[in-house]
Amino acid sequence: QQYESFADAVVRWQAAHGRNGLPWQQTRDPYCVWLSEIMLQQTQVATVLAYFPRFVARFPDVHTLAAASGDEVLGLWSGLGYYSRARNLHRCAQRIVAEHGGQFPLTAEALQTLPGIGRSTAAAIAAFCFGERAAILDANVKRVLTRMLGFDADLADARNERLLWAHATDLLPATQLADAMPRYTQGLMDLGATVCLPRKPACLLCPVRERCTAHRQGQPERYPVKTRK
Ligand code: ADE
Repeated sequence: QQYESFADAVVRWQAAHGRNGLPWQQTRDPYCVWLSEIMLQQTQVATVLAYFPRFVARFPDVHTLAAASGDEVLGLWSGLGYYSRARNLHRCAQRIVAEHGGQFPLTAEALQTLPGIGRSTAAAIAAFCFGERAAILDANVKRVLTRMLGFDADLADARNERLLWAHATDLLPATQLADAMPRYTQGLMDLGATVCLPRKPACLLCPVRERCTAHRQGQPERYPVKTRK
């Protein structure tokens, strides 16, 4: 009945309806992609658009950033909030210069060991820059995948979180064909941010609604399940 994989449907939708042409999407420079991912973690695209170019103009590469004073880095960050991100950013740049000769590690596994780079951010950077088949699972993507899968196990339990990571990995594009990973990764983020919203998701606009368990059940807002502990 379904001739297209989940990944292919996300990829096709991203090309037509996702967010494209943003400054950090014009490059595969890990420095720029890393910086944008850290900024985008807790900040809207519209706000990041105002800060990203200024930051890159002052600190065009990881060496410049590593050599700057902490105060200057915080100064250019001011207004973005969540200042631990800026401190980790600076520490991460210094580690990359001191321990990696100024070269970003080339795998998600290695990126993940750096300050401020969690598993999902590491995977996003590796997928965008190197086409690595690595799964992302930030809060938006958790919502998309739990709904699609009808995954109602409590994500407060680390075992269920691990299971969802395994599902996310199973759903990746099957091959590294023609840029599938960057577009798939961006597509999941875009679906979560613009269609598969926490309240009143726009299921009519969703490219995967026909295979979405939550949509079929008529209760998308039931997911994700996460009890406070
Ligand atoms: N949030 C985190 N990463 C993002 C990206 N690359 N595009 C849009 N929103 C994001």
